[in-house]
Amino acid sequence: MDLKSLIRDIPDFPKPGIVFRDITTLLRNPEGLRYTIDAMYEQVAPLSVDYVVGIESRGFMFGTPLACKLDAGFVPARKPGKLPAAVHSVEYQLEYGTDRLELHQDAFHPSCRVLVVDDVIATGGTAAATAQLVEQTGCDLVGFGFIIELTGLEGRKNLPEEVPIVSLIQY
Ligand code: PRP
Ligand code: ADE
Repeated sequence: MDLKSLIRDIPDFPKPGIVFRDITTLLRNPEGLRYTIDAMYEQVAPLSVDYVVGIESRGFMFGTPLACKLDAGFVPARKPGKLPAAVHSVEYQLEYGTDRLELHQDAFHPSCRVLVVDDVIATGGTAAATAQLVEQTGCDLVGFGFIIELTGLEGRKNLPEEVPIVSLIQY
């Protein structure tokens, strides 16, 4: 399936000069959504994942159905002040600003295998921050899964070298 044809490009959003890759047009397409989850599943199933960490907010949309298909748990990495129990917290740079992400300290069982999922990797700042959060819990980060990789921004260079990275669509 031509997944790229289901992504809508919005020029100058949210700021001049950014081409926003809009996944809502993929999400609303039943065949496209199923194909996306199945394609990611095929590539990450060999990693024997115990938990999928989905990054707020678009990472939730793909991470939860993927976790279900993997027979894994789902854990949200959330923006500040949203998680009710004790958290690990990391600040990071965005393609358009700075932000902070948090993860429950007790989200995982000891020595579990964790996959980080998001819709887009741009500069890699968000995914790198999430990797740091997972490392703070002491669990094994076994992979990253992205629907879209903006290769020109070289975000994968900001991720731990030894951890496999899957991306389904490249720009
Ligand atoms: C977007 C996207 C990724 C991140 C990628 O999230 O969903 O999480 O930016 O950028 P990076 O690789 O340069 O860090 P955003 O913060 O816009 O939040 P949203 O998912 O809630 O829209
Ligand atoms: N997140 C960071 N950069 C993005 C872009 N260009 N399109 C969609 N999501 C993004």
